[in-house]
Amino acid sequence: MASVLNKSVALWSASRQPMIVALQLSRGAQTAAAAAPQEQPRLKKFKIYRWDPDKMGDKPRMQEYSVDLNNCGPMVLDALIKIKNEIDPTLTFRRSCREGICGSCAMNIGGTNTLACISRIDTKLSKATKIYPLPHMYVVKDLVPDMSNFYAQYRSIEPYLKRKDGIQQGEEQLFQSVDDRAKLDGLYECILCACCSTSCPSYWWNGDKYLGPAVLMQAYRWMIDSRDQFRKERLEKLQDPFSVYRCHTIMNCTKTCPKGLNPGRAIAEIKKMMAGLA
Ligand code: SF4
Ligand code: SF4
Ligand code: FES
Repeated sequence: MASVLNKSVALWSASRQPMIVALQLSRGAQTAAAAAPQEQPRLKKFKIYRWDPDKMGDKPRMQEYSVDLNNCGPMVLDALIKIKNEIDPTLTFRRSCREGICGSCAMNIGGTNTLACISRIDTKLSKATKIYPLPHMYVVKDLVPDMSNFYAQYRSIEPYLKRKDGIQQGEEQLFQSVDDRAKLDGLYECILCACCSTSCPSYWWNGDKYLGPAVLMQAYRWMIDSRDQFRKERLEKLQDPFSVYRCHTIMNCTKTCPKGLNPGRAIAEIKKMMAGLA
């Protein structure tokens, strides 16, 4: 009996051996890791526009934050979220999808209107990245612009299918040829981020009366939809000195669009239609 017991104890301790060795190894690895030199922090400075209208007497200013890029995602939105989570919860900005679809993180980064979620952080550590709200917009707080005028202008172009034949929505399917559908490519992808409109000098000076590239591109999108029956009326509505004709083909809009669209071309097409050329 005793020898059977001794044998099973021996077997048990033999089976524990690898675990003990493994434990010793992992302790050894920990010691080695502790002794290894720490990764050098890669501190990147961000200078961010701050203004809080709810704080009495607060004036717009730039605030500087340092972020270690070793512990941060690659995009500017990652840095903003890190600053908000770990350094300053009062920093205010809009974001939602974080993949260039919702358009809410539009802001001016390093002098360009773009989407923070698809803008890579400039990894040159000696240079601070400056971030402002979209230019020439009223500011709600920090990086949040007031989009009310932009949305009212979008509403004004009636951005939906309009029919004269009385067919109600859902009643029957309205077919479109492959070619007619292709005409909408490069237009329907717009996410209404307003990067283009707020980069347009004409929109800066006449944003109350000039519709701006984003809204005009959507107006054009409905004008050329083969299923819509209100092209003439849509064009007539824009016949004034400001709605379209404040565009001087400067093309800032097309240059800045983070989705690679061409609102400048859409405006030129509207002008051609208005002149009876198309
Ligand atoms: S055209 Fe481009 S920049 Fe302008 S609102 Fe649409 S996605 Fe944004
Ligand atoms: S092309 Fe027209 S809409 Fe675009 S930036 Fe120039 S003036 Fe503005
Ligand atoms: S978070 Fe949606 S476009 Fe950037």
